Amino acid sequence: MIKVFFRIVSLGKEYKYWMLLAALIGFLTVGSGIGLMMTSSYLIAKAALQTPIYQLQVAIVGVRFFGISRGVFRYLERYISHNVTFKLLAKFRVWFFTALVPIVPSKTIDLTSGDLLTRSIEDIESIEHIFVRVISPPFIFVATAILMFALLNIFSITYAILFIILFTGSAFAIPYLTFLLSNKIGKKIVLLKSQLKEFTVDSLQGISELIFYGQKDSWENEFNKIQDQLINAEYRMNNIKSLHESLTGLAMNLTVAMMLLIAIPDVVTGALNGVYLSVISIGIMAAFESVAQIPQAFQYLSKSTEAGKRLFDIVDTHKNEDEINLTESAITGYNLRLENISFTYDTNNNALSNISFRINEGERVAIVGASGAGKSTLVNILTKLWDYNTGNIFIGNENYKVLSSTNIRNIISVVPQKVQLFTGTIKENLLIAKDGVTDSELMRVLSEVGLDSLINSLPDKLNTNIGELGQKLSGGESKRLTIARALLRNSPIIIFDEATSHVDNLTEKKILETIKELPATKSVIFITHRLNQMDMFDNIIVLSNGRIVESGTHTELLAKGNFYKKLIDSQNQNITLLS
Ligand SMILES: Nc1ncnc2c1ncn2[C@@H]1O[C@H](COP(=O)(O)OP(=O)(O)OP(=O)(O)O)[C@@H](O)[C@H]1O
Ligand SMILES: [Mg+2]
Repeated sequence: MIKVFFRIVSLGKEYKYWMLLAALIGFLTVGSGIGLMMTSSYLIAKAALQTPIYQLQVAIVGVRFFGISRGVFRYLERYISHNVTFKLLAKFRVWFFTALVPIVPSKTIDLTSGDLLTRSIEDIESIEHIFVRVISPPFIFVATAILMFALLNIFSITYAILFIILFTGSAFAIPYLTFLLSNKIGKKIVLLKSQLKEFTVDSLQGISELIFYGQKDSWENEFNKIQDQLINAEYRMNNIKSLHESLTGLAMNLTVAMMLLIAIPDVVTGALNGVYLSVISIGIMAAFESVAQIPQAFQYLSKSTEAGKRLFDIVDTHKNEDEINLTESAITGYNLRLENISFTYDTNNNALSNISFRINEGERVAIVGASGAGKSTLVNILTKLWDYNTGNIFIGNENYKVLSSTNIRNIISVVPQKVQLFTGTIKENLLIAKDGVTDSELMRVLSEVGLDSLINSLPDKLNTNIGELGQKLSGGESKRLTIARALLRNSPIIIFDEATSHVDNLTEKKILETIKELPATKSVIFITHRLNQMDMFDNIIVLSNGRIVESGTHTELLAKGNFYKKLIDSQNQNITLLS
């Protein structure tokens, strides 16, 4: 926990002077409060003794000064600490997101969107609490203790020592109790919140399936169960807060009572002027404002370090990857060469075994094979979403191992098998591939995938909103939009993973036509299980169970009469059966 705490602190070190200033002004606020209470109680006590007004002038000025300074300092302290807080939040969000990008999707595959959402919003807010709510209160407390010691010492060293013992005793004992009581609950709250978000995101995404299969009620019950646990934990946390608030009040009154016990005899003997009795008591009460913040600091400590641990888990995965010294090379030549590539996900079976092939610049290559053969896995490897275990890939003369993923993704664009569109307009979805493209250029690319007539029929044309994650488009339309997006990028190598699934024969023909008409310098990798117009490809690679079983042109493979021929025959047979 200490290690995590210091790691979080070091993240915000560039704002350390601002935080120090906020704490200092925080102390000046408490100090002004003490000054205000002490001078005003002096004023009231003195006035009650019918002291002439001219003798009260200094106290009146003191009340005015501290009254104003307290307000001004409070404002400045809030202003500075909020300012630092927002700057820290922005910094942490960018820090976390930057760490997340290189490991998506491979390393985060086991993390759900809900969990990631909690980490990137709530956990980050929690670690930010360390700065304002955990570090600053003890600092203010120590400064207040020194101030009060000095003030009480003016009257008597005994008062000062008694005060320090009771004051620090309260500031350690109550928070320690809070910490013992809240440590586990703090962690539990962080986890439950994450679980609840995970569950909510999952249920919302699959709401139609849940309703369809009649599972709505059981999911609702599960949701309520987690929510009840969270409310319960929050309730206990609030009880602890109330407990430490009451205990702080009790400690404050006890300190005042003890002080009065030893000060009253001094008044009787004349060692202390009776007026100061109220000044001392009220000053002590005001000083306890700085103790009240400390138990809360401990409450936040367990929550914030737990949140920090969850964030560092993700950030550290990225660090391991970062240790490889990647270059941003200027790549010349786009011949692609795979040598004995083998790859396994976290299972024992190889998803790819000993894959070797070459795709020269401008070649059109098809990769075919049954479902689960490893075709999409090959795309993940070629785009560096996953790292292969053995073998080498070269692009031009550069080895993939020394190229950064950004470098590779500038050269290779992909139409992924699983369509991913964003909530927004058609234009916004296209422009993520390339900035500053004119509308007419966008329409030209859209017509290549046969979407121009649809767009023209829409009232807002390119600016039509396609709903959450593109839900307002049909499966085929979404697919075609992602093809348009990849074409727009204009990269030297394009991979189409099942680009013609979900589309009718006419659109498939159009898409294949578009691919044929791509500039001769572009290399195309076309992954499909629909074996139509295969003669347009320079080479066909047939995958089965993660291995290349044969390769060649359509005519060559048919003549061989092996695996490929069987695939074609079974497709034709299915078509005959259907008709
Ligand atoms: N993230 C993953 N973690 C573990 N195993 C995976 C993962 N993704 C795919 N696999 C497994 O790897 C194998 C190859 O999957 P892949 O998606 O490459 O097949 P494919 O040839 O693209 O199939 P399809 O034609 O159905 O898209 C399958 O057995 C699959 O279950
Ligand atoms: Mg696939």
